[in-house]
Amino acid sequence: MITDPKEYIKRVDGAADYIRSALSNREMPEVCIVLGSGLGPLSSMAENQLEFSYSDIPGFPVSTAPGHKGSLITGMLSGKPVFMMNGRFHYYEGYPMETVTFYVRVMGRLGVKALLLTNASGGIGLDMKVPELVAITDHLSFYSESVLIGPNISEFGTRFPDQCHVYDPELTDLLVNCARDLQIRISRGVYAYSKGPQYETPAEIRALRILGADCVGMSTVPEAIAASHMGIRVAAMSCVTNMAAGISGNPLSEQEVLDNAALASDNSCALVKEFVKRLKV
Ligand code: HPA
Repeated sequence: MITDPKEYIKRVDGAADYIRSALSNREMPEVCIVLGSGLGPLSSMAENQLEFSYSDIPGFPVSTAPGHKGSLITGMLSGKPVFMMNGRFHYYEGYPMETVTFYVRVMGRLGVKALLLTNASGGIGLDMKVPELVAITDHLSFYSESVLIGPNISEFGTRFPDQCHVYDPELTDLLVNCARDLQIRISRGVYAYSKGPQYETPAEIRALRILGADCVGMSTVPEAIAASHMGIRVAAMSCVTNMAAGISGNPLSEQEVLDNAALASDNSCALVKEFVKRLKV
């Protein structure tokens, strides 16, 4: 929890200043894409790249999750300047929520207007097919700690932010339309946040299904809340890499998640590129 807002803002602005001065002769991106499982190949697809290791950015945390590199990339993707986060921070790694979402705050201070979050998830809907893509329309997370607990930083946003449109409906429609035009299967769904790192129990999955969740994963929600708190428009895409606990009868494994995310990788990357191309922020 943030206890000293002034110190936190100073740290965020220190990181933003560092990135801004390194990009002084480039057009500042207004779009940030978070490369979740299966999206890694996008990191080499941007032209005229500049890459910052997280450890080189003052105040930035360093990610420890398997398969998650730790670098911020900027370059041209589909003709637009973008930031790409190659590796994110998860609560299960032991980071407090304000550290998980530190990069979101930095992006907001840099003037980013749209954030595309991607992730891997377990499918809760019994008709889901692995690996299929889901455009996240809403989430469940009232049972977990909010990233906004503690003193509100009014420079970032309001104390009691409305949550009716955390995921921007227009950007979500764009994601779905891009998928349709590329003939990539995508559904719309509700993502349930799970703190992890253990996968859910079958009873938890049954409960989440009754509550209206379509898929479940261990990221995205804190970042989406922090971004929408700052007025950044959010879209989120999930790759269902496994059926959630208790559905198939097989134990869940990280290998299955990575293998199926890799299977969907071409589609996921193509969809993100098309989305960026057609995005108007
Ligand atoms: N549960 C939580 N997180 C996940 C899953 C899952 O089944 N699959 C990929 N990330």
